[in-house]
Amino acid sequence: MTSVEPSSSGQPFGSKVTVYVVACWIFAAFGGLMFGYDIGISGGVTSMDDFLKKFFPAIYERKLHAKENNYCKYDDQLLQLFTSSLYLAALVASFGASKACNVLGRKPTISLASVLFTLGAVVSGTAPNKVLLIIGRILFGIGVGFGNESVPLFLSEVAPMQHRGAVNILFQLFVTIGILIANLVNYAVSTIHPNGWRIALGLAGVPAIFLFMGSLIITETPSSLIERGKEFEGKEALRKIRGVDDVESELEQIKLACEISRQVKHPYKKLFKRASMPPLIIGISIQVFQQFTGINAIMFYAPVLFQTVGFKGNGSLLSAVITGVVNVLSTLVSIVAVDRVGRRKLLLQACVQMFISMVAIGSILLTHLKPTGSLDKGLAAVVVVLVCMFVMSFAWSWGPMGWLIPSETFPLETRTAGFAFAVSANMFFTFVIAQAFLSMLCNMRAYIFFFFALWILIMGLFVVFLLPETKGVPIDSMNERVWKKHPVWRKFMGKEVVKNYEMS
Ligand code: BGC
Repeated sequence: MTSVEPSSSGQPFGSKVTVYVVACWIFAAFGGLMFGYDIGISGGVTSMDDFLKKFFPAIYERKLHAKENNYCKYDDQLLQLFTSSLYLAALVASFGASKACNVLGRKPTISLASVLFTLGAVVSGTAPNKVLLIIGRILFGIGVGFGNESVPLFLSEVAPMQHRGAVNILFQLFVTIGILIANLVNYAVSTIHPNGWRIALGLAGVPAIFLFMGSLIITETPSSLIERGKEFEGKEALRKIRGVDDVESELEQIKLACEISRQVKHPYKKLFKRASMPPLIIGISIQVFQQFTGINAIMFYAPVLFQTVGFKGNGSLLSAVITGVVNVLSTLVSIVAVDRVGRRKLLLQACVQMFISMVAIGSILLTHLKPTGSLDKGLAAVVVVLVCMFVMSFAWSWGPMGWLIPSETFPLETRTAGFAFAVSANMFFTFVIAQAFLSMLCNMRAYIFFFFALWILIMGLFVVFLLPETKGVPIDSMNERVWKKHPVWRKFMGKEVVKNYEMS
C-alpha cells in the first residue's frame, strides 16, 4: 500500500506500508498486552481462596463469614490497596520513563519496560511472603509505567500521519486482548490448588518476553534519533519506516521540530509555560475522563453484577468473556474509523451511548434490585445488553483516545514530559476508582451509575467546546495547525511559539 501525506506546508510526502513497518507496530503493541493482562489478572487473583489464605488470612476469614449483600460483597480496602499499588508505582515510574525516552530513546525504554515487567512476573509468581509479593507488584507497576509511556509515543511517532490513529490504537487493541486472555487464565487456574494464582501471575512474563524480543527488532523513531543528534541514523530510520527512499520533506519537518526541541533545556519548565497549557490540559483531561466513564468499575463489577442479576455458577466467566470479546471487537471498529471520521465524532457518539447505558442500568437496579435477591430473567438479559452497549462505545472511543490524543498533541520539546503527566493521570485515577469503587458501590448502591452518567455528560461538553480535531495533522505541526487555530486555545499560544514556527 503506497500513499502520500501532506506536510504542514502542503507538500506531499510519500510512504509505503511494508512488512517491517507492520512488524514494528505489532511488536511494540505487545506493551499493551502487558498492561491489559495485569488489569485483567489482579481482580481474579485477589478473589482466589488459596491466594487469600496465604497472604491475607484475615480477609479470607471475613469472606467466609460475610453476610451476602448485592452491593457490599467485596468491600475491602486492604485488598484494594494491594491491587492498586501497581498504579501508584506506574504513576511515579512514568516520569522516570519520560527521562529515559529523552536520554536513551524510545526503543531502549521499551526494552527496559519488558525486563522490569518480566522481573515482576518472576518475583510475584514465586513470592514466598507478602514483602516479595508487593515488590513483585511494584516491579509490574514500574514496567507498566515505562511501557505505557514509551509504546504509545513510539507508535504515534513511527506511524504515517494518515494512519496514525489506527496504528496507535493497536496499543489499546492489545490492552483489550490482554484483559480477555487474563480473564480466561483466571478461570482456567481457579481449579488448580494451591498454586493456580502463581501460574496466573507468572504468565504475565509471556507478553513481556514478546515485547523484549520485539524491542530488539524495532527501529528507533526518527524524531528521537535526530533529537539526540543522530541525524544520519534518523534519516535511515525514516527511510525504513516509510518504505521509500525520498523522505526529504518529512525529514525537514522533523529536523525543524528537533531544532526547536534542542533549544529547550528544561522540558518540565517549558511544559508549565502558558503556551504549553493547551496540550497539557487536553492530555490530562482526556485520561482523567477516561477513568470517570466508569469503565473499570464496569469491568471489575461485571462478574458480580452478572451473578447478581441471575447468571449462576459460571456467571463470572461468562461475563468476563462477553464483555471481553465486545471490548476487543469494538476496538477494531475504532481502528477502522479513527482516521476516517476523526477523534471528536467517535468520542461524542460514545458519550451519548454510554450515558444512555449508565442511566438505564442505574434505573433498572434502583427499581428492581434489592440488597438481597436477584432480577428476573428478562431484566437480567437487558442489563447484560446494556453493559455490552457501554463497553462497546468505550472501546471505540475513550479507551483508545485516552492514549492516542495525548501521544500526538504535544510538540516534540514537551512530548515525553507532557505525555508522562497524561499517563500518570490515568494511573492515579485508575487507582482512585479501584480504591474507592467498592466502598462507593456499597454506600451509593445503584446511584453510582448515575454518578458516572453525570461525568459522561461533562466530558461530552468538554469535547464539544474544548477538544480540537487532530485527525490528519502531521505530529510535528500540531502547534501551527491545531492549537493556534482553535477559538479557545489560540489565546494561550504566545509570541514565542509563533516565532519558533515561523522559522519554517
Ligand atoms: C484503560 C483501562 C481500561 C481498559 C479497558 C484502557 O484504555 O486505560 O483503565 O481498563 O482500557 O479496555
